[in-house]
Amino acid sequence: MSATNGQMSAANGQPTLSIRGLHVAVGDVEILRGLDLDVPCGEVHALMGPNGSGKSTLANALMGHPDYEVTAGSVHFKGQAVLDLETDERARLGLFLAFQYPAEIPGVRVASFLRMALNARRSEEISVMAFRRLLLDKMKMLKMAPRFAERYLNEGFSGGEKKRNEILQLAVLQPDLAILDETDSGLDIDALRIVADGVNTLRASNLGVLVITHYQRLLNYIVPDRVHVLIDGRVVESGGKELVHRLEAEGYERYEDAVSRQEA
Ligand SMILES: Nc1ncnc2c1ncn2[C@@H]1O[C@H](COP(=O)(O)OP(=O)(O)O)[C@@H](O)[C@H]1O
Ligand SMILES: [Mg+2]
Repeated sequence: MSATNGQMSAANGQPTLSIRGLHVAVGDVEILRGLDLDVPCGEVHALMGPNGSGKSTLANALMGHPDYEVTAGSVHFKGQAVLDLETDERARLGLFLAFQYPAEIPGVRVASFLRMALNARRSEEISVMAFRRLLLDKMKMLKMAPRFAERYLNEGFSGGEKKRNEILQLAVLQPDLAILDETDSGLDIDALRIVADGVNTLRASNLGVLVITHYQRLLNYIVPDRVHVLIDGRVVESGGKELVHRLEAEGYERYEDAVSRQEA
C-alpha cells in the first residue's frame, strides 16, 4: 500500500515530506525557528549547515524524540500529518530514521533483528523462508557477505559495519523516505563509501533520501538532486548540486553575516 501511495504522490508532483514553519525547542531554547522543507518522492536531498545550526534537531523532531518539543508548524508525510503520530506509526507510514533503533540488543543477530523490524511494519508476518530469500537478495544487491547477517547486532561493530547494518535495514524495510543524519564521527573513508554505494544502489528503486551532513565530502559520492542550507534553525537557501561546491569554496559565513544583520 505504501508503494502505491508513493507512486501517486510522484505522479501528482506532491512532495513526500512537507515541512512548514517548523519551530522546535529543547527546554527553553528555540532551535528550529520556522523551517520549511519539501522532499518529493524518489529524490535525494541534502541538508547542510554548520555545527549547531539544528540539523540533528530536525532529525530528532521528525522521529518524535520526546526531548524535542514542536512549538509551531506542520509536518506532512504522503499527505498525512505526522506530528501526532508515535515513532513506530511514522515508521509504518514509510519514514525511516536509522537511529530510531537501539544501539545494541544483547544476543540478537542482525538477521533476526531485521525480521522483527520488518514484521513491525507489516500487517501480516513474513515467513522465515520468505524473509531469508529477501535478505539474501538484498545482501547480494548491496554486495554484502551473507555471513554479516549472522553477527550479533552492533556487538563490536566497526564504524563501517554500523553503516553496513544501517544500509541493510534500509534495503530490507524499503521505506519511501530515509532520513540519514551523517555526523562526521565514524565516517572514515570506508564508512563513507558504504553509505554512498548503498544510497546510490537504493535510489534506483525510487527511495527518497534526506542526507543530513555538514560534510561536503560525502556529497561527492552521493550526488544530491537538491541541496538545502540550514542556518540558525531556518532553511536559507535551496539549490542544485552545484551549491555543494560553492559551500565548499565559500563556507557558511556569508549566510551567517546575513542572519546576524537581519537580527541586529
Ligand atoms: N538534547 C539537547 N539538549 C540541549 N541542547 C540541545 C539538545 N539538542 C540540541 N541542542 C542544541 O541545539 C543546537 C543545535 O544542535 P544540533 O541540532 O545538534 O545541531 P547540528 O546537528 O546542526 O550540529 C545546539 O546549540 C545544541 O547545543
Ligand atoms: Mg548533528
